Amino acid sequence: MAGILAMTGHFCVMSYRLFVIRLRSLHATQEHKSARTNKIHSPFSTGAQRPLHTSYLLLSTPNMLQSDLNTIQADALIAIAAATDERTLDNARVEFLGKSGRLTQASSVMRDLPKEEKPAAGQMLNETRQAITSALDDKKIALIAEADALAVADLDLTLPGRTLPAGAIHPLTAMQDRVTKIFRQLGFALATGPEVETEWHCFDALNTPADHPARNESDTFYFDSGKLLRTHTSSVQVRTMEGNKPPVRIIAPGSAYRRDEIDATHLSVFNQIEGLYVAENVTLPDLKGTLEFFFKALYGESTEVRFRPHFFPFTEPSFEIDVKLEATGKEAKWIEIAGCGMVDPAVFDAVGNERGDDAYDSTKITGFAFGMGLERLTMIEYGISDIRHLIENDQRFLTQFA
Ligand code: PHE
Repeated sequence: MAGILAMTGHFCVMSYRLFVIRLRSLHATQEHKSARTNKIHSPFSTGAQRPLHTSYLLLSTPNMLQSDLNTIQADALIAIAAATDERTLDNARVEFLGKSGRLTQASSVMRDLPKEEKPAAGQMLNETRQAITSALDDKKIALIAEADALAVADLDLTLPGRTLPAGAIHPLTAMQDRVTKIFRQLGFALATGPEVETEWHCFDALNTPADHPARNESDTFYFDSGKLLRTHTSSVQVRTMEGNKPPVRIIAPGSAYRRDEIDATHLSVFNQIEGLYVAENVTLPDLKGTLEFFFKALYGESTEVRFRPHFFPFTEPSFEIDVKLEATGKEAKWIEIAGCGMVDPAVFDAVGNERGDDAYDSTKITGFAFGMGLERLTMIEYGISDIRHLIENDQRFLTQFA
């Protein structure tokens, strides 16, 4: 036994299974000897494993077979132990267990054995095959473990991790979040509506006559169905009032679409934020106070805001709102930033007609509405000179806001 262990001594770790297999093969040799004197004392030998049939003991063929098998097994274990990679291990498998391998050749004696000796011989062959197979399996696992260990051998777990570049919120989204937050503090709820809209919600209900230029094919994207891509978020005003009784106090951020020539200040798709407050006794000072508060909250307490009379079909009176921009080294400039006004009674009438009730009775209910472009708000905040930067996804531009 010491001999076999010494031969295979370069096994780093010997599994108990392998150890037993080796013990057994060694023992088989001793048993072979003691069998002749008919003395058998081995803790590994059970009747089932090694039947002591008289003919087995007397005939020389099984004994020779056992001796051959011991040699084959010992050689196999040495070859397996010596394998340094999966390819040499596979060569060993072919040499011993392959179609014309040594064990297969050894089993050819089976043909010539008398019938009553075949089971014992078959068992010997099986045991050898199992011993070699399990040594092959163990070695394969050991080789894989070795390769794994090698792969991480140079890994220094104390090194700091690689930091990934942090993502950031797009400036448009950041601005929308800020605007939403300010209005939510004032009690405005968030509302949404579809971008593919009916002419009624986008124009008719908003008191916009059929011959209004905004409804022109050259200004608006129409579908064959007669629907269109909403040209403003004001359609959400109509949808909100259709579904809710006053008081209504909402903001509706979202995309709008126009057939605009694309340049530094125009895109054919852009974002708006719509606002609507409808209740009893909503007045023009409420509108002014709310929007002045908003622009100061957004751009700073000293921001100057002015309301310039204007015309929108769905508000009366209507205004455009300008903020005064102070760029260092330049003369201060008024920039148009939003449209607003008191909701036109014709809008309440259209909604009331559709609802079939008097919840929006235009003799009792008043309201204000406003709409502004998110891109414009963002460009002013960050001093962006061309609206196209906002949609080009150029990292050199975007990382400045990260
Ligand atoms: N919908 C208008 C536009 O797109 C803005 C606006 C909204 C004006 C609400 C008045 C009231 O220009």
